[in-house]
Amino acid sequence: KHEELTTIVVFGASGDLAKKKTYPALFHLFQQGLLPRRTRIIGYARTKMTPEEFNKRVTSFFKATDDPKDVTAFLKICEYVSGKYDVDEDFKGLRKEIDTNEQLMHKRESDERVHIYYLALPPSVFVSVGTQIRRNVYDGSCTNRVVIEKPFGHDLESSRALSKSIGALFAEDEIYRIDHYLGKEMVKNILALRFANVFYEAVWDRRHIANVQITFKEPFGTEGRGGYFDEFGIIRDVMQNHLLQVLSIVAMHPPKSLRSEDIRDRKTEVLRRILPIQLEDTLLGQYVGTRDSSRPGYKDDETVPKSSITPTYAQCVLHVDNDRWRGVPWVIKAGKALDEAKMIIRIQFKDMVNALFPNLARNELILQVSPKESVTIKTIVKEPGLSTNLAMSELDLSYHKRYQDLKIPDAYATLILDVLNGDHSNFVRSDELDEAWRIFTPLLHQIEKEEVVPLPYEYGSTGPKGADEFPTERAGYKPTAKEYHWEPKTA
Ligand code: BG6
Repeated sequence: KHEELTTIVVFGASGDLAKKKTYPALFHLFQQGLLPRRTRIIGYARTKMTPEEFNKRVTSFFKATDDPKDVTAFLKICEYVSGKYDVDEDFKGLRKEIDTNEQLMHKRESDERVHIYYLALPPSVFVSVGTQIRRNVYDGSCTNRVVIEKPFGHDLESSRALSKSIGALFAEDEIYRIDHYLGKEMVKNILALRFANVFYEAVWDRRHIANVQITFKEPFGTEGRGGYFDEFGIIRDVMQNHLLQVLSIVAMHPPKSLRSEDIRDRKTEVLRRILPIQLEDTLLGQYVGTRDSSRPGYKDDETVPKSSITPTYAQCVLHVDNDRWRGVPWVIKAGKALDEAKMIIRIQFKDMVNALFPNLARNELILQVSPKESVTIKTIVKEPGLSTNLAMSELDLSYHKRYQDLKIPDAYATLILDVLNGDHSNFVRSDELDEAWRIFTPLLHQIEKEEVVPLPYEYGSTGPKGADEFPTERAGYKPTAKEYHWEPKTA
């Protein structure tokens, strides 16, 4: 009987991503008993650390409520090796460490050995680490999986160059490109909603849907990350990846099966039908400090050049040029330092036209991805009571009410579990990535070449002038009457 022997190497183990996401996710899986019985986790980074320092660092984002016994047991399967990212000897040392660990896990001939290389690293060292792994660590007799994190280049050309270098080192089916939005509960739910219910798919097209908005809002700025962010801007940071990935799942045709390549084929197919975004269909903003100076502006960050014109806010209209969607505008918007934290997908249906009820507000299906997962359908009902008027109401599936004991796992835990299972469905394939860059690159280049200056907006506001009206003016979105506002009583 084959049994698995798993080694996970986390490169960049001393960094922020490892500390905040990778290790807490690995720990979560460990606690749930979801790591294979024989697993070792080796952290690798340049910083020299004692085991105590390392342990303190990687557990710093564990929850206070975590059982210390679990933490101790987890740390027993972890260790840390320090080394450079371009030195043969150091990587040979790492290989030895892996071999020794496998012996310690009582390796047998019949075991299926899995090596997972998780690159929690800045892009500047991707290729050098990949090359070293290939040259000094890679073992062709076991299953190898390489997990990489964005940014995957900064435009079509650089992304292709990166794909080429990585493609020369590892096969596509060994590569797992993380877009952590694909691990979020409500994003994974789109497939179920669309293809497991008779009524959604029946109205999922241009005949019934008037427009779609995919919105990402954060209530904080780029404090502390300004240096990274300034090179990228909000379009590369959030839209080209997270929002476009979500869009592709909402827009794709039904996949032939739930196998990863069938899903990724469909997503790529729909991306291919998206026309490059035009500057005229775009609104750009950059936040400034509040009038009372309680919140800083983007350029007050010391790591951001004073002359920066990098957008921290953007809205664009996209068009999917196929029979299902022709004529339906898709608005994607994203911003930092706004009035609230929210990620939602809002699908607005067309007007209900009949002689019985004139001038109706429109139905909407709203998927809230965060902060609190929910599915709601704005539905018109008779105003309850003696009245015969109509009123807008909602069918409301709020997860925190419906599934009270459920702890929704972090996206990273879900995705790492997929890597352990060898499931690529929620990872970005290279042709998908290529299409995503094709859609945004002309716009990004034009913004840079013409030095388009983003409109200012105040930290904590709803965005620059024109932001609130943009979906209506540019995509025909009809907001429900102002007096309609519904908030659940319990938080
Ligand atoms: C990251 C972006 O990919 O996603 C960040 O680089 C952003 O700028 C983050 O804050 C948002 O992720 P989440 O899971 O907090 O919504």
